[in-house]
Amino acid sequence: MKVKQEIQELFPTPLWVVDLPPAEAVAFNAGLKAEIEKIISPRPKVPSGSNWQTPQDLHTRPAFADFAKLVEQVAASVAQHLQVENFPMMITGCWANINPPGSYHPTHNHPNNYLSGVYYVAVPPTGTHLLFQDPRPVMIMPRTKLGRITANAAIAEVRPGRMVFFPSWLRHHVPSNEGPTERISIAFNLMFTNFAETIAPPMWKPTAGNS
Ligand SMILES: [Fe+2]
Repeated sequence: MKVKQEIQELFPTPLWVVDLPPAEAVAFNAGLKAEIEKIISPRPKVPSGSNWQTPQDLHTRPAFADFAKLVEQVAASVAQHLQVENFPMMITGCWANINPPGSYHPTHNHPNNYLSGVYYVAVPPTGTHLLFQDPRPVMIMPRTKLGRITANAAIAEVRPGRMVFFPSWLRHHVPSNEGPTERISIAFNLMFTNFAETIAPPMWKPTAGNS
């Protein structure tokens, strides 16, 4: 019998991937890298497998004003996609990570936020990516092959000049940097302003003399 079949994909998990034009990314990243180095230098000792992290107030510093503007620009288009563009949102935290070879970040999500993201300033030529976990609580589909429908984790490819936005509830981790060089990234969170200002303000405190 001839039947008509259509596939409906229910409950998709969005990931918004934005790339700067490569030529512009080179200059932009050089400036960001210099500013991050200034904050972290001299680098304190960190345990092996760990990384260097700045305070979470980068979006309040003039040196990162263009970066914050870029985050807000992308957030506006994401909000439109999610049909929440009429509700003001603010950056609730923004910090840089320097991950030497061997460093990793265990599985987590970003509570009290609506959108989270990461921008890549420097990425080793190989051996580094971002891994998202399947948000469905039970995966009972038999797996003979890993694919878009059957996998319980998904890789987001990372590269310099790339910004990845994701829902803050989506669990993720950063596998060990297997590349030969440092990975430098800037992470950030956004939340609806009235929530972040009244119900659950960010827990970080502004760094004295950062402007
Ligand atoms: Fe994260």
